[in-house]
Amino acid sequence: MPIPLMASPTLLVFLLFLSLLHQVASKAVIFEGFDENSELNLQGSSIIKTSRLLKLTNRSTNIVGHAFYATPFQMLNKNNTNPPLQPYAYSFSTNFVFSIVSPISGSGGFGLAFTIAPSTQFPGAEAGHYLGLVNSANDGNDSNHIFAVEFDTVNGYKDDSDTEGNHVGVNINGMDSIITEPAAYIEEGTDNVKEDFRMAKVDAVQVWIEYDGEKKTLNVTIAPLPLPRPSKPIIMNHNIDLYNVMEESMYVGFSASTGQETSSHYLLGWSFVVNGVAPLLNISNLPKPPPKEKEPTSFPWVNVAIGILSGLTFCLLCILFCLTCYRRYMDFEVLEDWEMDCPHRFRYKDLHIATKGFIESQLIGVGGFGAVYKGVLPSTGAEVAVKRIVRSPFHGMREFAAEIESLGKLRHKNLVNLQGWCKKKNDLLLVYDFIPNGSLDYVLYKPNNNNNFVLNWGQRFNILKDISAGLLYLHEEWEQVVIHRDVKTSNILIDAHLNARLGDFGLARLYNHGQVSHTTSVVGTIGYIAPELTRTGKACANTDVYSFGVVLLEVATGKRPLDSDQFFLVEWVIENYHLGQILEVVDPKLDSLYDEEEVELVLKLGLLCTQHRADYRPSMKQVTRYLNFDDPLPDIADWGHDVSGSSRLSEGFLEVTSSMGTVEALGYLSSISMSTKSIDAGR
Ligand SMILES: *[C@@H]1O[C@H](CO)[C@@H](O)[C@H](O)[C@H]1NC(C)=O
Ligand SMILES: *[C@@H]1O[C@H](CO)[C@@H](O)[C@H](O)[C@H]1NC(C)=O
Ligand SMILES: *[C@@H]1O[C@H](CO)[C@@H](O)[C@H](O)[C@H]1NC(C)=O
Ligand SMILES: *[C@@H]1O[C@H](CO)[C@@H](O)[C@H](O)[C@H]1NC(C)=O
Ligand SMILES: *[C@@H]1O[C@H](CO)[C@@H](O)[C@H](O)[C@H]1NC(C)=O
Repeated sequence: MPIPLMASPTLLVFLLFLSLLHQVASKAVIFEGFDENSELNLQGSSIIKTSRLLKLTNRSTNIVGHAFYATPFQMLNKNNTNPPLQPYAYSFSTNFVFSIVSPISGSGGFGLAFTIAPSTQFPGAEAGHYLGLVNSANDGNDSNHIFAVEFDTVNGYKDDSDTEGNHVGVNINGMDSIITEPAAYIEEGTDNVKEDFRMAKVDAVQVWIEYDGEKKTLNVTIAPLPLPRPSKPIIMNHNIDLYNVMEESMYVGFSASTGQETSSHYLLGWSFVVNGVAPLLNISNLPKPPPKEKEPTSFPWVNVAIGILSGLTFCLLCILFCLTCYRRYMDFEVLEDWEMDCPHRFRYKDLHIATKGFIESQLIGVGGFGAVYKGVLPSTGAEVAVKRIVRSPFHGMREFAAEIESLGKLRHKNLVNLQGWCKKKNDLLLVYDFIPNGSLDYVLYKPNNNNNFVLNWGQRFNILKDISAGLLYLHEEWEQVVIHRDVKTSNILIDAHLNARLGDFGLARLYNHGQVSHTTSVVGTIGYIAPELTRTGKACANTDVYSFGVVLLEVATGKRPLDSDQFFLVEWVIENYHLGQILEVVDPKLDSLYDEEEVELVLKLGLLCTQHRADYRPSMKQVTRYLNFDDPLPDIADWGHDVSGSSRLSEGFLEVTSSMGTVEALGYLSSISMSTKSIDAGR
């Protein structure tokens, strides 16, 4: 009889407590390969193979495999004795290696998830997207107490979440991921250069997950084997509180499922610990990754096959050789999967042919980031302008493509339509309608000796109406609000019939109606940037109206917005307005041949649009109505402010001028902004 213990119940409690602590703190689990002695609870299709692989699913449709560590872990610190004394979920750390074998053709499915759950049973859980953890009825229910990090290879759960197949997602209580990232790792030595890879295509994927319960941070890092651990995680979140998700005792393991599309899901090794750093797996001790599946060889007479094959091999080698030469020649394009379903994507080959291999004679301009070539599409014979941006420095190609895809849907007779795009390695090609006459900037200011063509007033007035119609479409008539951000005369192209088209959507970012911009850097051109933009960096419809106001004044006066350090067009027009001689500013090249009413309207409207205060500027709808004489221009006395204080305007200009540094240090989109001036000079 254990008398000492009986005599000392306090000691008993203390020992019990110790053993509890011991169990929580030191139970590190490590599996480098699996066997029948592994303390795992297997359910569904999960089996341990003689190759020491844990196979969670085979390639049958709609099956689920679970594998959980047989004993649960203590996951909550309910009695936190350290300040602030709040209870919290314990920290944990895990390292594992998995492998997905999908069919060679078509896509596999669905995925596997590292899972922490209150039980090893998931009654009613469905396969497919639900990964064997929940079903359509309890998906997202707080009473599930499930934390999962999913590695999914199929996209399209509930339309908008998980838009990318092949992603990593963090899920709480359901399949609506609270965070998702395309499968990628951050390249060593870079801050945020993501190297994408396809989880189902690499031999195996290694994962590290760390959660800090007190700081509520979660890191997920992945890399294809045998790469070492990248130093930066792909998911790093500082705001994940698992206290309400965890219960005191939780099971930890994996769940995988297949749907209509199927893959085999394997685990090669796994380590896990609560309140510590998971022991790192020694990769050389892990079982070999499962072989990737090959096309079934149904032909029984292997020897005959070998005979035929060796005959074919020679032919194949010849073909390969030719193909290699061809690829070298064409610099053959390799499409990434996400690029396949972009209707506006051009084939590199076509653009190569269209521009005769980007030869110099097709070059119609060179800008800061690349060149513009004239081309004729081989399929349709249509003339296009191809902007080639070499070694584009941005990395979010996929997001960028999505943006271009939607810009490609914009269609208006007063816009230079973006027909499509193409990416080849780091080069980005943008394909626009070809507009023969060059830019308004060029037509207005070209040296006289070039040819004697001068736009008359009627033509100028029509051009302004065209551009206001184009801008109105961007701001109010398309399904999303598109802020142009770089309205200026060199972005206005003139076609053969002297109709104007607004070009270069490179700088435009999409805004949903009513949403505020999140821009951080100023994008635009000196002289056309609304004063508040340099302070707030927030582009909106008002700032485009400002730029359009400058264009109105420019077209009427034939003067650039800033000609020297001393000349500010807007200020100059205001001064003359105050002297009662507004018609003095009209372009002398018009030879006094103009409709005074129209000219006065354009000048006044220019001033109305370039008011210092954004909220006093009219909307494009209103501007269009004024230009068509649908509404009378409001009396200048009613504008409420700054036409009287020209000093405030010049202050705004000085601000713009001095912010040159900011304007040149543009965000990634600016990289596709080019000075069209030089392009037009070539036309
Ligand atoms: C796949 O797993 C399911 C569920 O365990 C089993 O019924 C089926 O026979 C397996 N199929 C193959 C081809 O092994
Ligand atoms: C935690 O605190 C409660 C109330 O203070 C106490 O009843 C319980 O025994 C404590 N649990 C542990 C594990 O210390
Ligand atoms: C969540 O699940 C619980 C227990 O099954 C159930 O009582 C509750 O109604 C569910 N809540 C929702 C919003 O479905
Ligand atoms: C997550 O990663 C960051 C950056 O590498 C690191 O500073 C932080 O300590 C990590 N957090 C956890 C919980 O491991
Ligand atoms: C990994 O295992 C191999 C073979 O067991 C051993 O030689 C090697 O030293 C181990 N590496 C580490 C870092 O422990």
